[in-house]
Amino acid sequence: MPNAFISGTGSSIPERVVTNQDLVDTYGIDSDDAWVQKRTGIKTRRFTEPGTGTTELGADAGAKAIAAAGLQPQDIDMILAATISPEYAFPGIGVTIAEKLGLCEGSGATFVPAMDIRNQCSGFVYGLSTAAAMVQSGAHKHVLVIGSEIHSAALDLSTRGRTIASLFGDGAGAVVVSATDEDRGVRSWKLGSDGRHAEVLCQKIWDMRQRPFIPVDEDGYGRVSPEMMYAHMDGRQVFRHAVERMCTVTMQICLENGVTGDEVDLFMFHQANMRINQFVAKQLAIPEDKLIHNIDKYGNTTAATIPLLIDEAVRTGRLVPGMKVACVAFGSGFTWGATLIDW
Ligand SMILES: CC(C)(COP(=O)(O)OP(=O)(O)OC[C@H]1O[C@@H](n2cnc3c(N)ncnc32)[C@H](O)[C@@H]1OP(=O)(O)O)[C@@H](O)C(=O)NCCC(=O)NCCS
Repeated sequence: MPNAFISGTGSSIPERVVTNQDLVDTYGIDSDDAWVQKRTGIKTRRFTEPGTGTTELGADAGAKAIAAAGLQPQDIDMILAATISPEYAFPGIGVTIAEKLGLCEGSGATFVPAMDIRNQCSGFVYGLSTAAAMVQSGAHKHVLVIGSEIHSAALDLSTRGRTIASLFGDGAGAVVVSATDEDRGVRSWKLGSDGRHAEVLCQKIWDMRQRPFIPVDEDGYGRVSPEMMYAHMDGRQVFRHAVERMCTVTMQICLENGVTGDEVDLFMFHQANMRINQFVAKQLAIPEDKLIHNIDKYGNTTAATIPLLIDEAVRTGRLVPGMKVACVAFGSGFTWGATLIDW
C-alpha cells in the first residue's frame, strides 16, 4: 500500500485588506477594534471584489499547489473541493475548478472526477482524509484538495449582523496529496459529527419543506427574510463544543498513533477564534510555539484556514520534512476531525 503525502501547497489571498476599523468606517457597523481583537484575535480579514468567485480563488490556489508539487494539472487524478460558499446552489465548485485548470478542453482534457465536500470548517480535514484514503488504496496517484471561501458576499455587513460579520474572511488554500513509497505522509484521521446541533450554526436561505422552497411575492420573485438569508450562530454554544471536541479528537489521534503531544512538532488548528485555540492548547499543555495562527490576518476562512496555514508554514520554512503535524478542525454540523501527518 503506498503512503499518501502532501507533495505541493498553494494559497490564494484576495488583495483587499479590511481592518476592524474598516467595518465601522466603510460599512457603518457599530463595532470596535478592541472588542473584536479581545474576543477573537482578529485584526484584519481579506474581501474579494465583486466579480470574483470561489472557483477562481480555488483554481488559483490549486494551480499553485500543482506547480509546487512539480506537476501539471493533467497529472491530477481527482479534485476534492471543500466550501460553504459555492457560486451556485448546484453544481459545486469542484467541476468548475477542473474546467479552470484546463482539464475539460483540448489536448489536456482529462475530465477527472470532481467532488464537493460540504463539511464547513471541517471540510479540509474531511477532504484531506478522503484524498489520503484514495491514494493509499491505489485508486489515485495525485488528488488535489482545495478549501475555498468567499464569505464577504453573504455577510450581513450591518450592526444587526456584527457578531458574525466581524469573524469571517475570504481566501483559498490547496494541497496535492500524492502516492509515495517513502515512510511518510498522512498516518491516520479521526472524523466525527453531531447533527443534533445543526441549527446552532447554519445559513438556511431556503427550506425544502416549504412549497415553494422560497416564498414568492405577487410578481413571482422569491423573497428571503434576513433570518433565512444570513448565517445564524449561537456563539457561546459553538465555543463550548469546539473546545470539547477539539481537545478530544486531538487526544484520540495521538493515542491511536502511539504519539505523545510532546512528539508533535506543529499543531494546525482551525482558525475560528484565537481564544478557542488558546483554550484547547492550555487544556492539552501544548506550548504556544507549536501552535501557528493566521486568524489575526485573515479571520475565519472556514475550509481554507488549515491549507492556508500549511502553505504559509511550508513557504516560510516553519514546516520541513521530518516534522510531525496534527491538523484539527471543528465546525458547523457540528463536524470535527483531526489528521496526523509525518511531513
Ligand atoms: C462570537 C463570539 C466572539 C461572541 O463573544 P461573546 O463573548 O459570546 O459575546 P456575545 O455574543 O454574548 O455578545 C456580547 C455583546 O457584544 C456585542 N457584539 C457582538 N459583536 C460585536 C462587535 N463586532 N463589536 C462590538 N460588539 C459586538 C453583542 O451584540 C452583545 O451585545 P449585547 O450584550 O448588548 O447584546 C464568541 O461567542 C465566539 O467566538 N464563539 C465561537 C464562534 C465561532 O468560532 N464560530 C465559528 C465556528 S467554526
